[in-house]
Amino acid sequence: MTTANQNLKPVTTKINAKGNLEIGGCDLIDLAEQYGTPLYVFDEQTIRTIAREYKQAFKAYPKVSMLYASKAFMTKAVVRILDEEGFGFDMVSGGEIYTAAAAGANMKKCLFNGNNKSYDELQMAVELGVGLISVDNFLELALLNEVAKSNNKTVDILLRVTPGIECHTHEYIQTGHLDSKFGFDLTQVDEAVELILEEYQNLNPVGLHAHIGSQIFETNIYYDEVEVLLKEAGRLKEKYSLNLTHINLGGGLGIKYTENDCPPSINEIAEKIISSIKDNAVKYNVEEPEIHIEPGRSIIGTSGVTLYTVGSSKQVPKGRKYVAVDGGMADNPRPSLYQAVYTADVVDKPVAEPVETVTIAGRFCESGDILIKDIKLPVLKEGDILCFYDTGAYGYSMASNYNRVLKPAAVLVNNSQSDIIINRESYEHLTACDVIPDRLKNKA
Ligand code: LLP
Repeated sequence: MTTANQNLKPVTTKINAKGNLEIGGCDLIDLAEQYGTPLYVFDEQTIRTIAREYKQAFKAYPKVSMLYASKAFMTKAVVRILDEEGFGFDMVSGGEIYTAAAAGANMKKCLFNGNNKSYDELQMAVELGVGLISVDNFLELALLNEVAKSNNKTVDILLRVTPGIECHTHEYIQTGHLDSKFGFDLTQVDEAVELILEEYQNLNPVGLHAHIGSQIFETNIYYDEVEVLLKEAGRLKEKYSLNLTHINLGGGLGIKYTENDCPPSINEIAEKIISSIKDNAVKYNVEEPEIHIEPGRSIIGTSGVTLYTVGSSKQVPKGRKYVAVDGGMADNPRPSLYQAVYTADVVDKPVAEPVETVTIAGRFCESGDILIKDIKLPVLKEGDILCFYDTGAYGYSMASNYNRVLKPAAVLVNNSQSDIIINRESYEHLTACDVIPDRLKNKA
């Protein structure tokens, strides 16, 4: 059975009677007219479908909690949807904690994670009752114990470890290999545990946390990851009589960005994880743990598309044809940062013969601002609307105001209705934090 992370397009994508692409029952030409471009469009049904597919896939193992990795794309509306679907949130900053709390997430189901959390952020997490904190390093053990003590609380923690598993993805988004900035090396875990047991009375270690990387297409590495963590839990049980009941496996499941991508289904990953728990809990003499799964991209990536308007074009004599759109590396830095490849359609000609190979360039003042290199499309003209698929994850969340360009709006579509979930920035927003010192003010 396939799951929606294996689709290139949101589950509601159709060609309507006018011959235009529609998502969530909304004609994308109408959305571009109503809200302007660039525009992020998120399909609520795709988000909910995938969230439910995750829950369904793990039905055979009831001791599972789902945490959405907020870093992929977080806004208050997305928190509402995933909170309704029973998800908690994996958060990595005060901003993500604030957003989750402001949107009414169940903070007990949430986890705070990150390799350099500040004292203030830890304080905020403890005050707001974040259920679990994944402690990444020795400094943080000390800081968090201090925070917990000053709040008269004992805080449940996971120890983030580097499991020494390499996945085949872009180097920048690998995390589980040994030479990584995240977490305790397995050789440092004993020292951390001894500090907790002997000195840090306000920390309650309940489990281990790892994340092996992102945009992963392999399935066996999840089996291996579970084994590494259960083996470590078994070792700590034996050596310190420490009963670690939770294993957080991070996220990482890949999605389909182009026809060439074949990510595994959510079910395949779930089967590997569950079978590894069954095998290795026995092998390492630990109880079957409570597991946490932290998907980001595979929950939100496929649900999102970006609409751009075609502007200028340039035919390099005997070379490429560049077609520029009104967005680019500031609303989607992934092509320039990771050489990520995307697919696009022309919104009012989704089935027209692709006859011309063009390179879609962004509008930012940088040669590297290329969104798609060499894509075959119908002939494009100024004013055409392009729909880029699979921009839901790590697009808006990594967007910037490079060139002082305003960040686009985002709308949520469902049942032929569209609602703004992020307002388009204005020049007032853009300059709201700017300050001119008095001595530079024009006194004339
Ligand atoms: N849990 C932890 C501890 C993580 O570090 C991450 C992602 C996730 C979960 C979610 O991973 P996902 O399911 O989304 O693969 N900006 C990069 C991706 C960086 C991922 C960082 N950590 C990109 O655009 O490809």
